Amino acid sequence: MIDEIKKVEEEIRIFIENLHTKEDLEKFRNIFLVKKGKIQQLFDRMRDLPKEEKPIVGKFLNELRNYAETRFKELSESIAERETKVPKIDLTLPGRIDYIGHRHPIYQTMDRMVEVFVSLGFKVAEGPDIEDGYHNFDALNFPPDHPARDMQDTFFIKSDKNLLLRTHTSPVQIRIMHATKPPIRYIMPGRVYRNEAISARSLAEFHQIEGLYINHKVTFAELKGTMIEFSRRMFGENLRFRFRPSFFPFTEPSAELDITCFLCQGKGCRVCKYTGWLEIAGCGMVHPNVLKAGGIDPEEYTGYAFGLGIERVAMLLTGIDDIRTFYANDVRVLSQF
Ligand code: DAH
Repeated sequence: MIDEIKKVEEEIRIFIENLHTKEDLEKFRNIFLVKKGKIQQLFDRMRDLPKEEKPIVGKFLNELRNYAETRFKELSESIAERETKVPKIDLTLPGRIDYIGHRHPIYQTMDRMVEVFVSLGFKVAEGPDIEDGYHNFDALNFPPDHPARDMQDTFFIKSDKNLLLRTHTSPVQIRIMHATKPPIRYIMPGRVYRNEAISARSLAEFHQIEGLYINHKVTFAELKGTMIEFSRRMFGENLRFRFRPSFFPFTEPSAELDITCFLCQGKGCRVCKYTGWLEIAGCGMVHPNVLKAGGIDPEEYTGYAFGLGIERVAMLLTGIDDIRTFYANDVRVLSQF
């Protein structure tokens, strides 16, 4: 029995070493000091001891109880005192730095692109993120069975099969044609959505800048001039250009613009996949059906349009090679730009 008393004493000692809070104190009381606690349990067992052992065991037990109760009282007082004390303020410590937020690198890139187009004479317009099938597809000359209309590629709004999250900024072209008369010279930046698997190269939400110029006798040469001047102001003077034939339902003819990879000066690197070229825009002459849908007579007017991905440009300018990095919200990354 004496051994057991010593064991409980040791337990109490270890418990006290790790006792720091009011909650610990309460635990201590419940384990050792209450009526059903470990100490009282030992006292209860004294009844069954032979008479001659009782005094000596009783002495040990009394000492144990005194020890536990005294320590409990002392600790209650010191914890209470600590918790009520006003913390000392060290006036010599350096102050906290207030970090001021700044514009996200994607929006910095967008601002810069907008600035360049504005310097070339474009005005800025915006359209809604939630579009209808008419503006996003029909008016842009998408045939009824075009794969982009599939649920697989487009986020539709559940309650209304005709509403969707715009898959590109091109529908704003239609809205501008309806809202104003030629000459029209606008860029339209904004967020777009596609039901796309997320990877280092693609996200389901990203940003584009759309461009539209409509006037009498607008030619493909003017489109080339605008794209080339934009690229020079954005990426540097020493660029070469390549307009590759392409296809979009809303332009005819259509092209994709490649510029010399300015990261390797065209020598070939990982970013340009060792081709020496970077693809930066889709563009073309506005399809007569699109002009008609916009209420503009294609016999009287012609126009060009283009679309650029903002994340793509930001990746090229920052050297970030995983698009997800922009949206991971890691201040250590974002604060560098
Ligand atoms: N809307 C196209 C897309 O999202 C981009 C585009 C290509 C826009 C050619 C244009 C254009 O205005 O002429 O992939």
